[in-house]
Amino acid sequence: MKNTLISSVRGMRDILPEQIGCWQQLEKTAADCFRRYGYGELRTPLVERLELFSRQLGENTDMVQKEMYRFVDRANGDEVALRPEATVSTVRALLADDRQRGGTVRVWYGGPMFRHERPQKGRYRQFHQLGAEALGSTDPALDTEQIIMLARLWRELDIGDQLRLSINNLGSSAERARYRDQLADYFNRHADRLDSDARKRINTNPLRILDSKDPDTMTVAASAPRLAETLSDESRRHVETVKEKLAAAGIEFEEDPMLVRGLDYYNLTVYEWALAGDTRRQNTVCGGGRYDGLAEKIGGRPFPGCGFALGMERIVDLMKPPPLAAADCFLAVTDGDHATADTADRVAENCRDEGLSVWRHIGGGNLARQLKKADSMGTALVIIVGKDECAGGYITIKRLADGAQQQINPAQAAATSKHLLQT
Ligand code: HAM
Repeated sequence: MKNTLISSVRGMRDILPEQIGCWQQLEKTAADCFRRYGYGELRTPLVERLELFSRQLGENTDMVQKEMYRFVDRANGDEVALRPEATVSTVRALLADDRQRGGTVRVWYGGPMFRHERPQKGRYRQFHQLGAEALGSTDPALDTEQIIMLARLWRELDIGDQLRLSINNLGSSAERARYRDQLADYFNRHADRLDSDARKRINTNPLRILDSKDPDTMTVAASAPRLAETLSDESRRHVETVKEKLAAAGIEFEEDPMLVRGLDYYNLTVYEWALAGDTRRQNTVCGGGRYDGLAEKIGGRPFPGCGFALGMERIVDLMKPPPLAAADCFLAVTDGDHATADTADRVAENCRDEGLSVWRHIGGGNLARQLKKADSMGTALVIIVGKDECAGGYITIKRLADGAQQQINPAQAAATSKHLLQT
């Protein structure tokens, strides 16, 4: 019986060598950008205790209710989850590290996150984020610096003109709790005009109704009481300062009173970068904000902070793929005897010692076929190792661009290749 090929898990994708160029460019550019703002890299586990997420992200959020990859570790009965995001893990890790007491700490992270969402373009069950968190201060300068850092990242990736920034003020958690009641009251009075999803959320998470994409619900939401109207002067001042500093830095943004974000831990500043001119939810490429009460909810000391995460799949989609890097040399081997093969291996290793990349042909075939393969791969040089030539103590190096060809002693292969590549 023929076996059928086992497929990957739905919503989880391979990133192939042809696609990796943009990913590496994004990782490198971001790491360098974050470094220049004083962020150090933090790596946390992919698996955490379930309660870390269920309490902190909000019992009534979609993420906890429907999207979490959670399971019982059969070996010890522990309830664990694959991380759906990395902010709470970051705060947990920094609280556990006693050296972080006092002062501000800035960290960045990257890697896979897991959410059991309905897969579609730009939305996957395993996806990748790059994020940064700064803790230890309530100063709005920290929020602003992160947004300025992101604007720099977009500029350096050459995607800035495709993105727009939206900002909102969620107030303090007490203000939001009061507003939540007010909102639930309003939506209860208009429940008959809401879609079924929104109706379910009235008493659990009415703020999320504000960023519904259902047209009827949007109409009702447009006339709902505004959080901004209920905020204290102190809360107002924080986000006003952020906005003033952004304007001074020449960063354009729009205020969006409907922007609430999908996680419960936020207060004051929240923001999202989305594709300009596109309103679908999965076109948000980056989101973040302040979460001053999160550390205490995890059981730690007061440790206010703010941060963001960008969706790597969505950013990569906007980037121009860099040209594929072909190997420097194609090493053609025309005869299969041991001595020729040994010479070929030695030449390849010598070239690699000198930093050159060498595709050593394996698998036979005549010279014409091998040269055709070298041509299709786009290597700059071909090194030909044949039995008769080896016996005569030489090999051939050819530069494909102009046909320049030399016969040399195998020991000179690396130096000659380097010379041909540079001239
Ligand atoms: P988030 O908005 O849930 O925030 O995710 C951040 C970004 O991850 C989104 O804007 C999107 O680009 C990407 N993303 C989310 N879900 C998916 C998915 N299923 N497939 C592909 N991309 C996705 C957070 O995760 C917060 N931890 C951000 C943060 C950090 N806030 C403060 N600090």
